[in-house]
Amino acid sequence: MKFVRFALAGGLLIAATSAIAQDRPQVDAARIDATMRAMFSRVSPEWQARAQLDDTQRACTERRNQVSAAEADAIQARERATVVLPPDGNFLGDWRKGFQVANNGRGGQFSDPAGTIAGGNCFACHQMDPKEVSYGTLGPSLAAYGRDRNYDPELIRDAYIKIYNSQAAVACSNMPRFGAMKVLTIDQIKDVLAYLFDRQSPVNQ
Ligand code: HEC
Repeated sequence: MKFVRFALAGGLLIAATSAIAQDRPQVDAARIDATMRAMFSRVSPEWQARAQLDDTQRACTERRNQVSAAEADAIQARERATVVLPPDGNFLGDWRKGFQVANNGRGGQFSDPAGTIAGGNCFACHQMDPKEVSYGTLGPSLAAYGRDRNYDPELIRDAYIKIYNSQAAVACSNMPRFGAMKVLTIDQIKDVLAYLFDRQSPVNQ
């Protein structure tokens, strides 16, 4: 569209070339920052802090998620250092509660009543229980996740780390860092892990 508009208006090759270069939106990054800060100017300091990019978000944003291998290693190491493993050494909670966590998209909103329990909203991005017909596809299907992995304890631990901090596993992941960003508690992560790995869970039927 831009190409056509420029070509008609100018009729010059140079205009057409610059139109192609403009395919990416040309918005001043400083202006975006200022607008974002203004939107957050009247909220609590805790919410203002949420508008600040941390080092990982900044690296991924600046590189449009195309970080070098060295940057990816640095991100994964930094994010891995945030992961708190379950103090009792037990990774699996209650799969029934895990379903509630996976199916709950509440939390982290201005309008939340005090004491709202946040969910993981996993179904927004993943298939889990194969009988559930409503799910998103941004992430891979997790149907039969535990069964396909022979309920291997090593892989249960890996999945815990992935859910606690997705970027410890994949730099610039599109999956939220649930534990590190305090969206989910350790117990909620254990429950959702049981939903993926318990032999009785509908995910593995
Ligand atoms: C906003 C989308 C999004 C949400 C919400 C989300 N994920 Fe993910 N998830 C992804 C994407 C994208 C990947 C694949 C890329 C990656 O690994 O980062 C992924 C990968 C995974 C993997 C690794 C899969 C493999 O290849 O072995 C697991 C396990 C997982 N997610 C579990 C969860 C759980 C549990 C929740 C809810 C607590 C959740 N995800 C919520 C997007 C999401």
